[in-house]
Amino acid sequence: MKKKHLPFLLLVAFTSINFLQSCKDDEEDNDPTPTEQEFVADDNTFADFANWSLDAEKQGIDPAMGAAHGGNDSTVIRKIYFKDGQAPVNGVYPKGTVIVKHSANDSTYNVITAMVKRGAGFNSANDGWEWFILGADGKIAKDTAGVALRGANLMNGMCAGCHTNATSDWVFSK
Ligand code: HEC
Repeated sequence: MKKKHLPFLLLVAFTSINFLQSCKDDEEDNDPTPTEQEFVADDNTFADFANWSLDAEKQGIDPAMGAAHGGNDSTVIRKIYFKDGQAPVNGVYPKGTVIVKHSANDSTYNVITAMVKRGAGFNSANDGWEWFILGADGKIAKDTAGVALRGANLMNGMCAGCHTNATSDWVFSK
């Protein structure tokens, strides 16, 4: 192929992509009952969390936490990462907010938990939050039966039962 044809071909390709895209938009606009989509987290959602915005770092025994997050062990450092540094908007975190908490010490304690605003009616009792336990590899952990450790009612509602005491939309740290 002669090189001078390339810009033309690229233009044709680009125009048809635009055309297809606008058909798709039309279909969406014509949908009489648009339903809001949930933000459903997968392993990729948490990738590289240790490089996100570290917005809180805590250490020391916190009686209000009991054994949760190693809160009864003074050697455990609790690091809280907010994806994209997300802050609440008028007191509410938007759908798609991802927060990871890594609690660890130099020896055996190493627990990673997360909360994700899934939204769109999911877990409305917890204002749309889904609760997670991640493995040391940063992926969603599974129990011995292979069931993913995630959900509205994780650990029989223990996560939510304590986080209901947080001041800003189930979040303590920011
Ligand atoms: C008994 C209380 C308690 C329980 C149970 C608990 N948490 Fe927390 N969590 C806290 C506190 C307090 C913080 C604030 C940070 C700190 O002081 O370490 C926190 C912080 C977090 C954070 C960072 C965002 C924030 O609120 O600051 C995430 C994510 C989190 N917890 C997830 C979970 C998950 C998932 C579970 C259940 C597996 C859980 N938590 C169970 C008390 C609790």
